[in-house]
Amino acid sequence: MEARKVAVVTGAASGIGRGLARIADERGMQVVIADVDEAGLARLAADLGGRPLAVRTDVSDTVSVDALAERVFAEFGRTDILFNNAGLLSGGLSWKIPTDRWRRILDVNVMGVVNGVASFVPRMIETNLACRIVNTASIGGFVSSPLIAPYTASKFAVVALTEALAIELQLENSKVAVSVLAPGAVRSEIYAETRGARSEDSVDRSISAMRDFTEQTGMDPDDFARWAFAGIDDGQFWLIMQPEIYGAAIADRTRRALEGINPLPAHYGSAMADPDTSKEGR
Ligand SMILES: NC(=O)c1ccc[n+]([C@@H]2O[C@H](COP(=O)([O-])OP(=O)(O)OC[C@H]3O[C@@H](n4cnc5c(N)ncnc54)[C@H](O)[C@@H]3O)[C@@H](O)[C@H]2O)c1
Repeated sequence: MEARKVAVVTGAASGIGRGLARIADERGMQVVIADVDEAGLARLAADLGGRPLAVRTDVSDTVSVDALAERVFAEFGRTDILFNNAGLLSGGLSWKIPTDRWRRILDVNVMGVVNGVASFVPRMIETNLACRIVNTASIGGFVSSPLIAPYTASKFAVVALTEALAIELQLENSKVAVSVLAPGAVRSEIYAETRGARSEDSVDRSISAMRDFTEQTGMDPDDFARWAFAGIDDGQFWLIMQPEIYGAAIADRTRRALEGINPLPAHYGSAMADPDTSKEGR
């Protein structure tokens, strides 16, 4: 009998990560949940009947992620899917977001993925099993999102490094496959830090509109996770949510770049659109 498959999910205590962990558990996988939020991990582990292994992990910390990998391979001897999913977001004008906050977001969103890759790929290769790393980027990794610049910059980096990784693993004839997961709006706590924004401030109003859109119209995280697993089952690299909606925005951004059309607020969603600037600018 084949050993039970193992899924490792970072940022598992909330939102998309919790959905991925729940659906991996529903599919009969041994789930390892990792997050800085220990109380959230304990709640999820209890909800899932104590089946997941919960490991407090700070993905920005190389030592912490390596300890996670060490533990997973010591206990289960394999990782079939690693979800590098933990992420942070801050809102505001680029020049007003403190540089410490920029650094923290890049450390978690980009270096968190780099740390996961560095600690898990060698161990995955060693098992010689077909397995996969799924890096959570965002539609914001293809279409720049003003007022959340550290976030969107980090997600462009995740898309680029994941594509590079996919090619490198093929060049090495590795059995480790890779996917980039690009959610659009999924209900979660990703905008939590932006709550309490002042409604009289137009920047805050735009950020609040993005938050309300995600929290009120976002997809259910379990449904999102089921969709993601279906794409993984198909061996998909590009896991881009609702391409019929978000694909148009990605294609339009590429077209504007190639045609030399300068960015205008109207290109970036209703939260920022100003009717006076809705003409295309060259
Ligand atoms: N929700 C959306 O609409 C959306 C859209 C696009 C991309 N994403 C991405 O999905 C991923 C999951 O976010 P979410 O929306 O579920 O948000 P969330 O805030 O609900 O969950 C993020 C989780 O990451 C954890 N985390 C934060 N810093 C960490 C660290 N240093 N180490 C380990 N864990 C840490 C948090 O404690 C939290 O449990 C993120 O990468 C996010 O950028 C979300």
